[in-house]
Amino acid sequence: MIEENQNIKILRGRALSFLRQPEGVDDFAAFSYFEDGGVAIKGSKIVGFGEFGEVSKQFNGEIIDHRPHLLLPGLIDPHLHFVQMQVVASYAANLLEWLNKYTFVEEQRFFDPVHAAMIASAFFDTLIRYGTTSAVAYCSVHQTSAEAFFGEAEKRNMLMIGGKCMMDRNCPKALQDTAQTGYDESKALAQKWHGRGRAKYAITPRFAITSSPEQLESVTSLLKEFPDCYMQTHLSENMEEIAFTKELYPDHQDYLAIYEHYEMLGEKSLFGHAIHLSERELDAMAQSGSVAVSCPTSNLFLGSGLFDHDRVQKSGVSIAVATDIGGGTSFSMLKTMDEFYKIQQLNGNRFDPLMAFYRMTLGNAKALLLEKDIGTLAPETDADLVVLDAGATPEMALKMQRVETLAEELFLLQTLGDDRAVVETYVAGIAMKAGLV
Ligand code: GUN
Ligand code: ZN
Repeated sequence: MIEENQNIKILRGRALSFLRQPEGVDDFAAFSYFEDGGVAIKGSKIVGFGEFGEVSKQFNGEIIDHRPHLLLPGLIDPHLHFVQMQVVASYAANLLEWLNKYTFVEEQRFFDPVHAAMIASAFFDTLIRYGTTSAVAYCSVHQTSAEAFFGEAEKRNMLMIGGKCMMDRNCPKALQDTAQTGYDESKALAQKWHGRGRAKYAITPRFAITSSPEQLESVTSLLKEFPDCYMQTHLSENMEEIAFTKELYPDHQDYLAIYEHYEMLGEKSLFGHAIHLSERELDAMAQSGSVAVSCPTSNLFLGSGLFDHDRVQKSGVSIAVATDIGGGTSFSMLKTMDEFYKIQQLNGNRFDPLMAFYRMTLGNAKALLLEKDIGTLAPETDADLVVLDAGATPEMALKMQRVETLAEELFLLQTLGDDRAVVETYVAGIAMKAGLV
């Protein structure tokens, strides 16, 4: 039966969607790929995916021809700071200097709702330009910054997770809440935004250094009251950070043990960086289903360390990969995977391009427990897609002349690609990139 509806559109192109984590560059069973593919979209949902001939027999609607480009699920960035757009490219010796000298100064501007709204608008437009359709973001300590974040995401109908930072010490007074106000404001934001449209709330104690034990106790309470919300924080990013954390919390055996004590581990708990972990810490993360979110461009830029993908994966910990703007140096998930690949080279790990594209899509969706909604082209999921051109620049086009396989094309996109390779970004069924100035 043909389904006819004015709301239906069919995207035509070379369509790629992962089914599971690939086990090597020849693992063709890990993904669906159609050389002449079709993705049927009705309203905000994908309703059909397969050979274009089959999809166009089943659905009747406007055909949008993206050949010869690749159609993929929208890219997912599971750790970045929307309030750090103007911190990017700040010259510092290491994490703590960078935080004190630039980041904690810049974030004070988000006291002003007009500034917060202006940056939030630029932030989502930038994500769209780079093909990122969902992200997990830190806002500043100010409730207004989270309001701006969710408000602008809602205008664009983007699936976004975020939260106001909770921080009551070791930062400028203007950036501090208290255990009580941090709790009250986080609660109000979670009540208002979690589950409203596509928004989801993340309870966001910045890291142990900027939270007193009383504040972390309030995080324990919030997580009990809002078991459906996410939790995000930073963990074991940098050696000086780890040493200072141990001074502040001397009664705990290691960094993760602090968060364990306050019952912050779990399947919806996202730990940014997670580089310098002991076997015990990895084991505790694995047992609890917690997620290690690696941020390669940031780790190189701040000289923090080299996340060992294979070691973390062998320990059974769920892995995600993210930009960490503004410690990170690019909004591009392609660039991010390029740097992640190089870090794995230095660790002696093989990290093939199928894995890279899996991580940016289904892998990151699974780490967020959102694979039923985003991360694939499967029918009934949200119609968030990116259209990629591996010949976007003259040098990419030249290299494309030597490319023979899909994996080689993906590797080219990962190695040389950025926003120029993003032809279009669809958010909930709507083409969003073309309309940007
Ligand atoms: N640790 C605590 N806050 C931050 C931050 O804003 N960026 C990074 N990279 N690490 C942090
Ligand atoms: Zn971060």
